[in-house]
Amino acid sequence: MSDRIRVGLIGCGFYARNHLHAWRDLKDAGADTVGVCDVDAAKARAAGDAFGVPWFTDAAILIDQAKPDLVDITTRMDSHQALARLAAEHGVAAVVQKPFAPSYDDCVAIVETARRHGTFLAVHENFRFQTPMCRVAAVIASGAIGEPGWGRLSFRTGFDVYRTQPYFYSEERLAILDVGIHVLDLARVFLGEVERISCETQRRNPKVRAEDTATMLLRHVSGAVSVVECTYESRRIPDSFPETLLEIEGSAGSIVVGRGERMTVTSQGLSWEEAIGSPLLAWTSRPWHVSQESVLHANAHMLECLKAGRPAATSGEDNLKTYALVEAAYEAAATGRAVRPKAWSPGPG
Ligand SMILES: NC(=O)c1ccc[n+]([C@@H]2O[C@H](COP(=O)([O-])OP(=O)(O)OC[C@H]3O[C@@H](n4cnc5c(N)ncnc54)[C@H](O)[C@@H]3O)[C@@H](O)[C@H]2O)c1
Repeated sequence: MSDRIRVGLIGCGFYARNHLHAWRDLKDAGADTVGVCDVDAAKARAAGDAFGVPWFTDAAILIDQAKPDLVDITTRMDSHQALARLAAEHGVAAVVQKPFAPSYDDCVAIVETARRHGTFLAVHENFRFQTPMCRVAAVIASGAIGEPGWGRLSFRTGFDVYRTQPYFYSEERLAILDVGIHVLDLARVFLGEVERISCETQRRNPKVRAEDTATMLLRHVSGAVSVVECTYESRRIPDSFPETLLEIEGSAGSIVVGRGERMTVTSQGLSWEEAIGSPLLAWTSRPWHVSQESVLHANAHMLECLKAGRPAATSGEDNLKTYALVEAAYEAAATGRAVRPKAWSPGPG
């Protein structure tokens, strides 16, 4: 792969702006945005004009004419499989926004198609690229808290997410698939793979079709136990949107991340507190900043991995393990039993 990567973005909706800003900020790192596409011409034109790149209304034409090395698929999940297949068939690398696809089997099909064509495939699972979460991973890796044995990871908000994402009202699966998926991914990163999961869901906002609250209990392969919580129906002031708060206890210490990205680490009886707050990027603003800056970090990671010819930390195959937790959580909630997540292996050849 050359030192410069031609990026085409597909899906110019609400969240795509963050991706486009991030790719522009990555110009010096080798990213060239060469075109954008949306089936809605007005959205495609607006994004093309704002970022000074050609715009298209058909992803096949974007690939044919703008000749991207990488397509960044920022549409909603129902179109991911067809767009990722299109990319793979043209030998183009793809990064797909979360949720990967509407079902686990669809996710597997996307992974298998990319494998067959030998193309780079990653999922834009960005929470683990948030500065506070990177710090947590680094503290655990340093050994400062010993072996992590227990955790609580929590995303609780009453922020009006329905204003920017009105489609949330009618989703068949909401809290776990939209935001629980991020927190489950963090639980995997911090405490390791999961042996079984149980889950209770609630629909506390009557205007919403699906669950808006989930409380999950995970037994990790290491023996660690974690509680993973998510809700869009919290009534607390101040609201912590869009921060993930957490506590992790290890054999030699603990980590607590509280509101305002404040992290407290206890190690061998010593304690210190540090404010993590990274400087705001020019195009971000609170409260979205921690989410927005993670897009820059995620895209930077994708770019680096693609150039180096190695899989992303959030490769399609890695994300199957997170998605399997989502499916297992829904099954656990429906049956009232603890469920073992599915596992996928590439099979012979
Ligand atoms: N990682 C995060 O923190 C985060 C935050 C918000 C949204 N998201 C994800 O981003 C994705 C997009 O969400 P959104 O709220 O921006 O949605 P949106 O509906 O605002 O935008 C999606 C856009 O894709 C376009 N589109 C659909 N099919 C297309 C196709 N075949 N070709 C070209 N364009 C097509 C639509 O016209 C629309 O403009 C979702 O998967 C969502 O879960 C992630």
